[in-house]
Amino acid sequence: MKDNLTVNKISAAVIIAVGLAWIANAVSGAVVEPKMLAKNVFVVDTSAIATASAATTDAAPAGPAPIAPLLASASVDAGQKYAKVCGTCHSFGKGEAAKMGPNLYGIIGLKHAHMEGFSYSDAMKSLSDKTWTFDALNEFLFSPRAAVPGTKMTFAGIKNDQDRANVIAWLRTLSDSPTPLPAK
Ligand code: HEC
Repeated sequence: MKDNLTVNKISAAVIIAVGLAWIANAVSGAVVEPKMLAKNVFVVDTSAIATASAATTDAAPAGPAPIAPLLASASVDAGQKYAKVCGTCHSFGKGEAAKMGPNLYGIIGLKHAHMEGFSYSDAMKSLSDKTWTFDALNEFLFSPRAAVPGTKMTFAGIKNDQDRANVIAWLRTLSDSPTPLPAK
């Protein structure tokens, strides 16, 4: 009984809405003579939609964008500025003592857990035969805990691709002979 009433109300509402739309259409059609525009005035930028949906689909195994093309346009200066957040835990000068994290001078090309005497996590120590390549840094700095589960580096990561590339580009310069940039 109550349901019937609701259904009736909804049907009535739909009928009225359709009727009004029809009338409005008929009236405006009569009043305003439609003129077709030669060109779409509102150009919808679908590329943004494509990027957004790509970002959502990629979200499942979220990972960093490839580093080589990003490095080509990276800014060393911007990287140095951004790296202040690393500087609370890391020293960067040649031969400087560790802070809460190890010294990072010349890190590109060095092995994981490279610093003598630093008390690394077991997770990092277990990777000590692996070199810090541009790719490895890209993965690690995107999400330290995802790249090296169990790491002691309690830093959320740099999700922005350009920021991350800038930091890596700056880290590269901290060396007596910087590793050549990777080919794109
Ligand atoms: C909250 C402190 C903290 C911050 C902030 C931090 N780190 Fe670390 N980082 C650490 C610690 C602690 C380790 C040692 C990790 C382990 O043993 O698992 C580490 C390890 C590393 C390593 C590996 C070094 C090696 O010898 O293998 C790199 C590379 C690194 N950090 C880069 C960075 C960069 C770049 C930033 C800034 C974007 C940063 N870290 C921010 C604490 C930090």
